[in-house]
Amino acid sequence: QLNVLHKFKGILFSTLSSKDLLNSLDSFDAREDDIFLVSYPKSGTHWMAEIIENIPNARITLTSPIELGDVSKFEELKGCSKRRVIPTHLSYDMLPVTIKQRQCKIIYIVRNPKDTAVSLFHYYRDNPNLPSVETWAAFLELFLKGEVVYGSWFDHVLTWEEHKNDKNILFIFYEDMKKDFTKSLKKITAFLGISMNETEVNKIAWRTSFNEMKNNAAKENCDPNHTICALTSNRNLVFRKGVVGDWINYFTPKQKRVFDEVFTEKMKHSELGRYLKEHNA
Ligand code: A3P
Repeated sequence: QLNVLHKFKGILFSTLSSKDLLNSLDSFDAREDDIFLVSYPKSGTHWMAEIIENIPNARITLTSPIELGDVSKFEELKGCSKRRVIPTHLSYDMLPVTIKQRQCKIIYIVRNPKDTAVSLFHYYRDNPNLPSVETWAAFLELFLKGEVVYGSWFDHVLTWEEHKNDKNILFIFYEDMKKDFTKSLKKITAFLGISMNETEVNKIAWRTSFNEMKNNAAKENCDPNHTICALTSNRNLVFRKGVVGDWINYFTPKQKRVFDEVFTEKMKHSELGRYLKEHNA
């Protein structure tokens, strides 16, 4: 349990992401056709990855996260001959510069921060690659201070929001995927320039449903080559509830008030913040 996290430029990272690798991110050589799948942890990354993997004729390979491993990582990624889909939880600021220069396609998934906090709390409890945490109250305090893995949710989202009008970046909300999956899927395929017929759409909806993914995870052995989150290769830790609004079962009225105060302050200039608020985040 000791030292499962380390600080890099003021932000906590898993020791599974070596300091050397984090230091050398800018030497990563992005390809123009790379696709990046970006999120703050627990925002629906595995779901999005499963969707992209199931798009027919996409001819892609899902790699492990760019920040997972040590400096040999970039050699490993070079070995991938197909179009790469590369997941990451990095903030925009830390994203390797060649990704920005080549304007690679990026899908950024956002989830309302209260549900994200509850989900990350459970991840802290269940995932041996994360520190132990005593209570929900203690965890929530860390979350609000940004003293959790990958830092503050607010800061992460804000670095990405600055680029939400970049034409190579697509913002997708977890809640929208839950509410109208087909609509979100169409946004994703349009963005990637892939067309699908109705049968294919329905097939993906079924294959990427929460229950289907959870059941399949239970049947699989954990495969280090199928690692989507840099915090675990064990997919059984990922599929917990998969619903919107579970935060209500954890936040006391006082905790909600404190959270909303921090949210209002941190997101005061943020359009995304306003959008989330209107949607009862
Ligand atoms: P909960 O802990 O609230 O259940 P990530 O993939 O970024 O680690 O996010 C994990 C969260 O997404 C978990 O949230 C998990 O249950 C949820 N999730 C995973 N697959 C899902 C799916 N197919 N549909 C809906 N939610 C899903």
